Amino acid sequence: MTIGIILGSGLAHWPLAGGTELAVETPYGAASSALLRSMIGGCEVLAIARHGRTHTIAPHAVNYRANLWALYASGVRTCIGVNVVGAIAPGFAPGELAVPDQLIDYTWGRAATFTADGAPVTHVEFAEPFAPELRGHLAVAAADCGFTARRGVYGVTQGPRLETAAEIDLLARDGCAMVGMTAMPEAVLARELGMAYAICAGAVNRAAGRGPDGVSILADVDRYMALTMARIATVLETVVPRLARAAV
Ligand code: HPA
Repeated sequence: MTIGIILGSGLAHWPLAGGTELAVETPYGAASSALLRSMIGGCEVLAIARHGRTHTIAPHAVNYRANLWALYASGVRTCIGVNVVGAIAPGFAPGELAVPDQLIDYTWGRAATFTADGAPVTHVEFAEPFAPELRGHLAVAAADCGFTARRGVYGVTQGPRLETAAEIDLLARDGCAMVGMTAMPEAVLARELGMAYAICAGAVNRAAGRGPDGVSILADVDRYMALTMARIATVLETVVPRLARAAV
C-alpha cells in the first residue's frame, strides 16, 4: 500500500530524509514538486510539496489537478492533506490540531474537476467531503500522540491575502471552526479519482479579528508554525503504519 501525503506550509521537506525523488508527468502540466518517496514504518509514502519545495506557489496558483494526478498515477489511493489553518471556533487555540469533518468552499476560479470540456458531465457525491475511516485514524493517532484534534467545518478561502475580520465573522456564522486556503479543490479532485482523502490540519494563528488586540496574525504564524508541524509529523509517523495494517 502506498500512502500519499500533500505537505503544506511549514513541511515542504518532510519526510525527505533518506528518500528518493520521482518526477511524474501529468496531462495537467507540472505538479508542485517531484514526489518524495520514503518509507515510514515499512509503508511506502509519496509526498508532494503543495506550494513547491521553496514555497513559491500561492494557494490559488497550485496546480491541484497535476498534484492529485501525479499521486494517483503513482499508485496512491489513500491520501492525507496537511494544512495550516486559522482558528475560528471558541477555545480552538494556535498549536492545536484538527481533523475537519466538513468544508465550505469560498474559493473561485480554480480548476476543480478532471472532467474535460465537452466530455459527458459527471457528478460526484460530496456530502461527506473527507473519508470518514481515514479521519477516524487521524483523530485516534493524534489522541494517542497526546494531542487534541478538533473536528469541525473547514472554510476554504481564496487567498493569498488573509481574511478581513468581517469575513471571519461570516465564516463563523456559517459554522466554520477553522479557515485555510487549500482544502479545495484538493478534496473534490481526490474524490473524483476515487481516493480516500482526509486532512490533518494545525492551527497556526487565531483567524482575523479573533486574536487579542495588538497581536498580528503573521506573528502568531511565526510563533506556532514549527510546533504545529512537529506535532503533525508525529501524528503522520504514527498513523501511516496503522493505515498500512488496516489497508484503509
Ligand atoms: N486564514 C486563511 N488561511 C490560513 C490562515 C488564516 O488565518 N492561517 C493559516 N492558513
